[in-house]
Amino acid sequence: MTVLRLGSTAPDFEADTTEGPIKFHEWIGNSWVMLFSHPGDFTPVCTTELADISHRLPQFVSRNVKIIGISTDNVQSHHEWIEDIIEIGNKTAPTCVEYPIIADPERNISRLYEMLDEQDETNVDGEGLPYTIRTVFIIDPRKKIRTMLHYPASVGRDFDEVVRIIDALQLSEQHKVMTPCNWRKGDDVVVHPSLSDEE
Ligand code: BEZ
Repeated sequence: MTVLRLGSTAPDFEADTTEGPIKFHEWIGNSWVMLFSHPGDFTPVCTTELADISHRLPQFVSRNVKIIGISTDNVQSHHEWIEDIIEIGNKTAPTCVEYPIIADPERNISRLYEMLDEQDETNVDGEGLPYTIRTVFIIDPRKKIRTMLHYPASVGRDFDEVVRIIDALQLSEQHKVMTPCNWRKGDDVVVHPSLSDEE
């Protein structure tokens, strides 16, 4: 199995999703992507995460980032879960799940992206099988993995941080800069060490 690293080409795959079958690289096209995994449908923490992404989808669209979720249940189950996500999300803001969720019942894609972590004892189900952990992959339009985040099942993700990372990555694509600790869009940046004093 290929070990994924920052800079690796994101493995291509075909999958069924809530928006129909996709070929991943073809689906990416010229966009950035946030691929994020979930231990299972109807899990309460994940439900809050998917609702939050629905609320902040314009933040991703304006950055040319496509969103795609993945969970180890089938498409029918995902559609039923979406009803739940909408109900929970509507408690804070109008909610529409306008991004696909991949069905991975055989866990083939989860294995391809090393999203299963049975070493973490908080991450196994009642039968000892590992859940898909909460991963985030930020992939650029060249299909290269630019960021990988792994969260334990017990901790919900911070999507402000994901947006911050995307802003920093996209800025460093445009200019030879790096972003300091706790940087936010608009803050000062650090020039890349490869730049000469004159540059
Ligand atoms: C969740 O709520 O996301 C969750 C619940 C149990 C196990 C893993 C995740």
